[in-house]
Amino acid sequence: MSDLRSDFVHIFEPGQDTARPPVLLLHGTGGDERDLLPLGRTVAPGAALLSPRGAVLEHGMPRFFRRLAEGVFDEDDLRRRTDDLAAFIREAQARHGIAAPVALGFSNGANIAASLLLRHPGLLRGAALLRAMVPYAEPPAARLEGTKVLLLSGAADPIVPAANTARLAGILQAAGATVKHHDLPLGHGLSQMDVALTRDWMAAV
Ligand code: MLT
Repeated sequence: MSDLRSDFVHIFEPGQDTARPPVLLLHGTGGDERDLLPLGRTVAPGAALLSPRGAVLEHGMPRFFRRLAEGVFDEDDLRRRTDDLAAFIREAQARHGIAAPVALGFSNGANIAASLLLRHPGLLRGAALLRAMVPYAEPPAARLEGTKVLLLSGAADPIVPAANTARLAGILQAAGATVKHHDLPLGHGLSQMDVALTRDWMAAV
């Protein structure tokens, strides 16, 4: 359990490979802080892992922010929760003596990671966003030069239209981020293709 000021239940696994940046794991709706640990260990072997649990409950399912309907976000709550998560990351960095993390987010976790990029540029070294959407109707202007982003969308995703992820790629690119976007022949769920592409991207971030 956490005794950090920000009250995220979380797991921190120290890294063995100091050359690798720490990885911030952000689970999808209904997941928790344990969900993405195996994926994190696979795509970033030896990296420190910081894995918080979303503090919002939707019918008992943890999430990182409230939504009004599927794909329709409560943007005030998203702003507030994004700032809480940013404070948690900063405190965890100071406490564990770790560098700026690379986010690895799935679905709801990818969406708050996109919001972190736009509201707190420079906080993340990079972000792998798996099945992400544009988080704001009017995204804030951000400067993201030097930030690397991997976007993996599913062409048959019933929750995230591929055009929405393409729009997110454009927004991040226009902000100066180095963006790689692969639209995979998949739905919302992850596959070995996601694992392989994320592992390769993580090796170079
Ligand atoms: C969200 O609410 O973040 C997206 O609809 C993805 C999801 O969690 O289903």
